[in-house]
Amino acid sequence: MQAQIINGLEIRKAILEEIKAETAEYKTKTGKVPGLVTILVGENPASVSYVTLKVKTALEMGFNEVQVNLPESCTEQELLDTVEKYNRDDSIHGILVQLPLPKHIDENKVIYAIDPDKDVDGFHPVNIGRLLLGGKHTKYPPCTPAGIVEMLSRAGVGTEGKEVVIVGRSNLVGKPLANMLCAKGKNANATVTICHTGTKDLASHCKRADILVAAAGCPGLIKPEWVKPGACVIDVGVNRVGEKISEKTGKKVAILKGDTDFDALLDIAGYITPVPGGVGPMTIAMLMKNTLNAFKYTMEK
Ligand code: GUN
Repeated sequence: MQAQIINGLEIRKAILEEIKAETAEYKTKTGKVPGLVTILVGENPASVSYVTLKVKTALEMGFNEVQVNLPESCTEQELLDTVEKYNRDDSIHGILVQLPLPKHIDENKVIYAIDPDKDVDGFHPVNIGRLLLGGKHTKYPPCTPAGIVEMLSRAGVGTEGKEVVIVGRSNLVGKPLANMLCAKGKNANATVTICHTGTKDLASHCKRADILVAAAGCPGLIKPEWVKPGACVIDVGVNRVGEKISEKTGKKVAILKGDTDFDALLDIAGYITPVPGGVGPMTIAMLMKNTLNAFKYTMEK
């Protein structure tokens, strides 16, 4: 039987509709809406396109969206002052500083400067600590792993007691996802193994997985014969392997390849996420969810 394709675009649409409706409800009841500031330094084309989409989506949700564009030449102190300005602004509930930052700015210093209660990316060490403690402690799970958990839940892929193997140990995906899935509670309770490209006999670990998450950033790393028949394969890899001319726009666009071989897995896996159109679109939905939650926390205070 062919694998069921988990469509990130459709799931994102459903989540955004829920967020938009809840925001409208809050506006009617309280006259207030969530506020998100997106801070972009410089003009890195990938960052510009990510931020443009975040701004557009926040506006569609009915959020108060503030866009700050600083020049590539801005100093670290100017950026820190901008962050501090929004830490103090009560109409702003979420602060997002788009990464990567220019080399002359210390990224960690900037992340540490964001009020953890407004850190909707979930990158601040306080929020990583909250995630590790789990349950009610968790405030802002990082958007990509949160998107994966949401996808599994909405696709009806249970995690209870399952063998989850994550290939990739990044701070953004592998490590937080492992903590989320092995936690006690709903959409969790899994047995998790974290592997990486240096793992001895990676194949044998992958073959055990009921849920295999490929997040190493290596195109085609996971061989089809490493996947257990019927397993759920979540491909987080977004590897640029070349360029092509888009049929839609006539412009040059990147050719993207995941860490797995989607076509070969269609006849092996039980569930599979495509690249693009799988995990990628979920990230922005979870950013909006974290921003709505940041707003709700202040309303409940
Ligand atoms: N750059 C690439 N992805 C992200 C993200 O999720 N958040 C931020 N702040 N920067 C990014």
